[in-house]
Amino acid sequence: MCGIIAYAGHQPATPIVLQGLRRLEYRGYDSAGLAFIQQGIIHSIKASGKLDALVDKTSVSSNPLLATCGMGHTRWATHGVPNEINAHPHLSNDGAFALVHNGIIENYRELKDELIAKGYVFYSETDTEVLINLIAECRKSTPDNLRAFQAAVKRAQGAFALVLLCRDEPETIYATRKSAPLLAGIGAGENFVASDVTAFLASTRRVIFLDEGDIIRITPNSYQVLSLEDLRPLEKKIHQIEWDIQSAQKGGFKHFMLKEICEQPQVLRSALAGRVDLEAGRVRLPELEGLARPSRLRIVACGTSYNAGLWASSLLEEWGRIPCVVEIASEFRYRKPILGRDELVILISQSGETADTLAAMQVARECGCATLGLCNVIGSSLAREVDRVIYTQAGPEISVASTKALCSQMALLTLLALYWGQEAGALEGDRLKKLLADFSAVADTLEKHLPKLRVDVELFSLRVAAARNVFFLGRGRNYALALEGALKLKELSYIHAEAYAAGEMKHGPIALIDPEFLTIAIAPHDELFPKTFSNIEEIAARSGPILAITENGGDKHLRGEIKWDIPPLADPFTSFAILPMLQLLSYEAASYLGKDVDQPRNLAKSVTVE
Ligand code: AGP
Repeated sequence: MCGIIAYAGHQPATPIVLQGLRRLEYRGYDSAGLAFIQQGIIHSIKASGKLDALVDKTSVSSNPLLATCGMGHTRWATHGVPNEINAHPHLSNDGAFALVHNGIIENYRELKDELIAKGYVFYSETDTEVLINLIAECRKSTPDNLRAFQAAVKRAQGAFALVLLCRDEPETIYATRKSAPLLAGIGAGENFVASDVTAFLASTRRVIFLDEGDIIRITPNSYQVLSLEDLRPLEKKIHQIEWDIQSAQKGGFKHFMLKEICEQPQVLRSALAGRVDLEAGRVRLPELEGLARPSRLRIVACGTSYNAGLWASSLLEEWGRIPCVVEIASEFRYRKPILGRDELVILISQSGETADTLAAMQVARECGCATLGLCNVIGSSLAREVDRVIYTQAGPEISVASTKALCSQMALLTLLALYWGQEAGALEGDRLKKLLADFSAVADTLEKHLPKLRVDVELFSLRVAAARNVFFLGRGRNYALALEGALKLKELSYIHAEAYAAGEMKHGPIALIDPEFLTIAIAPHDELFPKTFSNIEEIAARSGPILAITENGGDKHLRGEIKWDIPPLADPFTSFAILPMLQLLSYEAASYLGKDVDQPRNLAKSVTVE
């Protein structure tokens, strides 16, 4: 939620801040703003709507290009509607300080009352404006800006990443974080603070991951990390980021989402690289070395990452021979779960910053369970706080709708199931070897068939775009994919879509079926096909139109339905082809309807609030 970038260097700051905001726009895009200091005055430019509005406004403003230190913010509204007044940065009443903020100050009301009593005036509805005036107030009784920042932040409750600009220190940026992402980029004669590395990847790959309660001070030629508690200097490791800027660009594709869908063969190769030894028929997961075999698995995640867990749970039981329960993080964190100490809690998160998933990790900890994170973003809060982390190595996912990250999560969970099966000797004879060979062949098959899927989908997506309501049906692992299909369609096209386990239709939802209500049935020709087929027949008997995602084997059974063939893969690896089919379907339907595919309304990529 919200993207932050700050720059202190020798180049004009505004274009760098705007470029950084462009890369962070996926984090929030209902309004944006920037601030810089010129001739002893803090200037701020803000615009509601997409970043382009701010770019236009900046280009006509009074020469902001001279400032070499500045900061910017792209917003996903929490307090107050998305308009220009509520957009960040916010300035203190005296104009001496400006602040950008990602997160929520929970005790802002009492702080606001206190400041109003002292004569402060508030122009916005935000919690951020309260904090910046508190900093100004604290400055009256502290010897410098750093101490004023420290004093005010110490009084703030909630989750936040904050960047502060001070009028009397035009070349300095202060920043701090608590339960919200923030990192520093260390360059040559220039330094950055941002929510995400992609914001400054074009300039530097040297990164400091800030910990909870760190304060950082950057200038063009220096940086210093201090403890918020007592301003004690802290030693920090500089990490080298492997991602390059190309991986965070569209690379000739119309949208990030399409690029990311098409990257899935490579994502699969990267997930398996070094982890599958085909000759020996073994899975190697050094991240799990020394970890005792868990008695139970509890997977906790949100949204698409939850769907990954649900998809994999049957494999973890069938191959890994470990009982597995999957839970939604926002429910799990408050329901006082009973967890055994020998239970392993697996937290899945692309961003590693999802507030509910982080809170679930805390609950698992308090219960004394070991935690394993499956995470894409290197150095994210989840990755740093779990006992063990397996990186999914999908590369930066910029589109708000998650696609390739899910593919990588499914791949890693498959490897986990095979690994635990291997360790328990549960996959007999050459079974493991055969499964690994089949799994390793998926990337090539998918790569070969993706171009055809992209052509086929255009026809099917028109049917979907014309629908007002859509059911996605599947059984077993395909039910998890149905959930994902419905989530993608809702997110991108705003068409009402629901997923059901196919066998549940007769228990109520079938009442909705009429000639207008489209059903997308995921029906590969596996052992459950006859059952799914019966459910399709029941819908057809009630004149419900059906798009069946099936295999050649299923064709002869399905008569009047529209059929879309799944590329030939062995079960359960068919899922790795069905997934991009569902993603493409929503992508094309939404594009046809003229929706903003990479930045759907009301959403943000990383949900760092409850
Ligand atoms: C999926 O398209 C969504 N963007 C959303 O459901 C997402 O998967 C969810 O917010 C969890 O995010 P995480 O994987 O970063 O924790």
